[in-house]
Amino acid sequence: MLAPLESQRRSCYCGDVRTGHIGQQIILKGWVQNHRDHGGVYFVDLRDRSGLVQVVFDPEELPAEAFERATRLHYEDVLAVRGTVRHRPEGTVNPRLKTGEVEVLLSDYAILSESAPLPFPIDEFTQSAEDLRLRYRYLDLRRPRMQQTLIERARVNGIIRRALDAEGFIEIETPVLTRSTPEGARDFLVPSRLNPGTFYALPQSPQLFKQLLMVAGMDRYYQIVRCFRDEDLRANRQPEFTQLDIEMAFVTPDELFEIMERMLTAVFRDVKGIDLKTPFDRMTYAEAMNRYGSDKPDRRFKLELHDITAAVRAGGCEFKVFVDLLGQGGVLRALVVPGGGEKFSNTQLKPGGELPTFAERHGARGLAWFRTVQDDSAVRLESSISKFFDAACQARIIEATGAGAGDLILIVADQPIASAQALGQLRLKLGRDLGLIPNDEFNFCWITDFPLLEWNADEKRWFSMHHPFTMPHPEDWDKLESDPGAVRSLAYDLALNGEELGGGSIRIHRRDLQERAFRALGIGEDEARMKFGFLMDAFQYGAPPHGGIAFGMDRLMRLLLGLDSIRDVIAFPKTQTGACLMTSAPAEVDEAQLRELSIRSTARKEK
Ligand code: AMO
Repeated sequence: MLAPLESQRRSCYCGDVRTGHIGQQIILKGWVQNHRDHGGVYFVDLRDRSGLVQVVFDPEELPAEAFERATRLHYEDVLAVRGTVRHRPEGTVNPRLKTGEVEVLLSDYAILSESAPLPFPIDEFTQSAEDLRLRYRYLDLRRPRMQQTLIERARVNGIIRRALDAEGFIEIETPVLTRSTPEGARDFLVPSRLNPGTFYALPQSPQLFKQLLMVAGMDRYYQIVRCFRDEDLRANRQPEFTQLDIEMAFVTPDELFEIMERMLTAVFRDVKGIDLKTPFDRMTYAEAMNRYGSDKPDRRFKLELHDITAAVRAGGCEFKVFVDLLGQGGVLRALVVPGGGEKFSNTQLKPGGELPTFAERHGARGLAWFRTVQDDSAVRLESSISKFFDAACQARIIEATGAGAGDLILIVADQPIASAQALGQLRLKLGRDLGLIPNDEFNFCWITDFPLLEWNADEKRWFSMHHPFTMPHPEDWDKLESDPGAVRSLAYDLALNGEELGGGSIRIHRRDLQERAFRALGIGEDEARMKFGFLMDAFQYGAPPHGGIAFGMDRLMRLLLGLDSIRDVIAFPKTQTGACLMTSAPAEVDEAQLRELSIRSTARKEK
């Protein structure tokens, strides 16, 4: 007698049954994707990770009771089946299925587990609400596309590991229970039971540890590592996310870029069959802001920004908003929409219309515009404000923007960064709305020479644009005290299709320079000692020059696979409010547990 099917090994995966198996008896295990009755014969599509295969329940081949039970199977019941592989009858071959030429004629089966009615169908056709998908994520992940994504992700991890191993990198784990790390977001805190009143912070990145590993002489480090940031969530952010974190001793930016490009080239070749063009383009932060209004420019389409400050400043403009702004050191930036004169109506352009409203939402104080029209002799500007610009000024604006007749010129007047950012966002919107962005291109660009510091008007002090250990640009060291805002840094980002894929820098390894950087940031000696004393101590004992980078793995996978959200490439993601709908985390805990941690919740009292 045959042993029960449950305890027998499967012969192969469902999706791997082929004509080569014809005539063989095989054992398969999997889920009921579909069942249907065809004139008294019962068909089940049995699915596992590899795909599905058709199993035929023929009443002639089975005891009556076993056949009758099969007609009451549910979607997603788990079965073990034994049967003989045969060619599908003429006319029933399904070329869309890998297993479409064969079927399994059942001789024996066991129901290993039954499924309750499903909250949503498990197929690629039904669009279920994301909340429902997240609540039943284990069912959502049964969908072949989701499984494929996770398989690809594991494969990319493997490619990266092999590429970095080959370059002499060593994978090293760093602590998850640690101190606050300076990446600028809020920390997730973990109370210490053994040291009442004290807290660990979950790492926003392994930044300080990887620098210490360089002091430790490990030379080349990497880690595929979970990072935690308690920040306002957006589509491309999760409170816990994965970085590919890298650090190298004695490295120059050029060398680092080359190694990273080799690694990314291997990933894109293996996963997409694409040979990326290297070296990747490079652009300074200043150029990216001036041309694209963004430090992560989407360069898949043109529509670049133009600076028309000089054209207007040269005279002939009586438009008060512009004149006043120029008096306050502001700049005038413009975007030209080719052929846009007819594409956009006055209703879309007037105050309160679609485009000004959008620009204002992104920080602009308003949006000025002109249509360019061909007169007998020349192109001139036309709009409700064109009367404030004389012919020479109009001609200079047209020349500075390169506009031709029939175009639309959109202008944001503001301080340099604000005008660039608002117009940069408008550029992206127009790119999307006008269908200018190709979706089959991977446009990488290194953005270099970021400012070291940025001014926070609310707190009235300088903040690190990257983090406090970033090396100031050697040409700008003398400005650290006199003109901190003008100091560039040796920080770089890698932008891909308008997204920041990664960022890093060469670090400060000299104590005197570090002290000057702390002073510029308003971090006093005591504060520096308290927060980073261990790092500063380590730097006393022969710290090699070093630098590194970290890539967002979730972002890389999303872009690589062309998906909408990083939630689609994470097995168990959180919602926009940082909740896990499946486990209901975050959740309240017992009073006793809080007591043990010497914690009292004020939120609870308020309730
Ligand atoms: P940075 O803060 O730029 O640098 O982070 C590196 C990359 O991590 C990704 N990333 C995120 N992905 C998803 N959700 C988030 N909340 C999130 N935050 C960041 C981005 C980003 O480019 N220690 C430095 C690196 C270094 O200097 O070496 C750091 O963490 O893709």
